[in-house]
Amino acid sequence: MILRKKLIAGNWKMNKTTADAVTLVQELIAEIGRQTEVDVLVCPPFTALDAVGRALEGSTLKSGAQNMHPEASGAFTGEVSASMLRALFVTHVILGHSERRTLFGEQDAFINQKVIAAFKNQLRPILCVGETLAEREAGDTLKVVQTQLEAGLEGVSTEQAPSLIVAYEPVWAIGTGKVATSDQAQEVHAFIRGLLVKLFGEAIAQKIRILYGGSMKPSNAAELLAQKDIDGGLIGGASLEARSFVELVKAAAAAK
Ligand code: PGA
Repeated sequence: MILRKKLIAGNWKMNKTTADAVTLVQELIAEIGRQTEVDVLVCPPFTALDAVGRALEGSTLKSGAQNMHPEASGAFTGEVSASMLRALFVTHVILGHSERRTLFGEQDAFINQKVIAAFKNQLRPILCVGETLAEREAGDTLKVVQTQLEAGLEGVSTEQAPSLIVAYEPVWAIGTGKVATSDQAQEVHAFIRGLLVKLFGEAIAQKIRILYGGSMKPSNAAELLAQKDIDGGLIGGASLEARSFVELVKAAAAAK
């Protein structure tokens, strides 16, 4: 029995003007805008969310944000709140991406506040976890992932947990072309599944999708997506062009 529908999510990072974003979304809609076998999400920069949300109307594609602030409103220059995202028909939000952690100093406790705020506002958080190359070489991969996951999910209830999405993104594989082998990825995904069982119980843990991220592309997707605990992908580079992103969605449809 397939409990988990695959999810392919594009993390566009700091790429694409509003006009370029709409062009890409229109190309995606033409190819995969009506399919329902795979859940598909695009996460453009904040500036393009409004236009992308409008362009997606009537399609099966959804939009997500790449970050948000945990507070509802106030003196937080440069930040965006959950309710502002909701007003743009955003359904998901990427939280704790490794670039937020390493380049902007985000820590687990702050990321946890965002996770809680996302649930409170009916946004589905995509909580990113993953080790650096130094941590992997030191044999600390599972310890790092466990700390980030448990701290990030503190206070999340069993009612909220089924709409959680986790992304395992080994930092050394992001944007480097160095993809984790399917065995390396599956090992960590299975470990994460085990932690989710401890936190929320078996039945709920089996519903939570765990995405792989880090240089996933059409040439390596099939093997990764065939793994038991890999429920989709969080795609950076290969999400910026319609052709490669569409191929990834098709690979996920074939792997289900
Ligand atoms: P990548 O990025 O696919 O370009 O490696 C993935 C991510 O950072 O989410």
